[in-house]
Amino acid sequence: MARLRVAVLISGRGSNLQALVNACAEPAFPAEIDLVISNEPEAGGLALAEAGGVATRIVNHRDFSDRPPFDAALTAALTEAGSDLVCLAGFKRLLTTAFVERWRDRLINIHPSLLPAFKGLHVHERVIKAGVRITGCTVHFVRPEMDDGPIIVQETVPVAADDTPEGLAERVLAAEHRCYPLALRLIAEGRVTVAGKVVTITGSDPLPAGFLNPRDA
Ligand code: GRF
Repeated sequence: MARLRVAVLISGRGSNLQALVNACAEPAFPAEIDLVISNEPEAGGLALAEAGGVATRIVNHRDFSDRPPFDAALTAALTEAGSDLVCLAGFKRLLTTAFVERWRDRLINIHPSLLPAFKGLHVHERVIKAGVRITGCTVHFVRPEMDDGPIIVQETVPVAADDTPEGLAERVLAAEHRCYPLALRLIAEGRVTVAGKVVTITGSDPLPAGFLNPRDA
């Protein structure tokens, strides 16, 4: 079966990109990364992509007057690459509704909290301040509102009484590196369907313990 063609959009260090590149390096993995786009010319993830033999492009938002032409340039690059699915991995630009709708149900993101809790920035600081005992990460389909959309995979991470934002970030990041490849695999295997706000995952092989989706069939 043909592998799913994936593009990854980054702005920074690219550790989630690296996790996806590693997963796709397995011969049996059902997806391949054909393009990495960064809006930041100095993003560390660009070197990681190149080291993994993945084509890179820079689409610098500073070269555009406004968000619509920037997003149109992204779509042009993705279309040219023949991308089936777009993964946001630390991509720090807000996307227009037109872009999100153009890639509806073919655009996914990872966020370092158990959505819909703790949308936005400085998540780990806010998690600790709020006194919650369990946090985690979420891979979700993207909708026009920030950090919104049907949830594909989540993994929980306990918050320790003496946690620092840095220590918690490190443990959540390790979970991210497990969740993102898992979500990509499930999509590439055709096991993910979206109805309204809810994702259903079908198929016999169950998710590993700790990965939550109560509707897994
Ligand atoms: C991750 O924590 C991700 O959840 C968030 O941005 C961070 C990106 O890190 N959206 P990296 O560039 O993948 O290392």
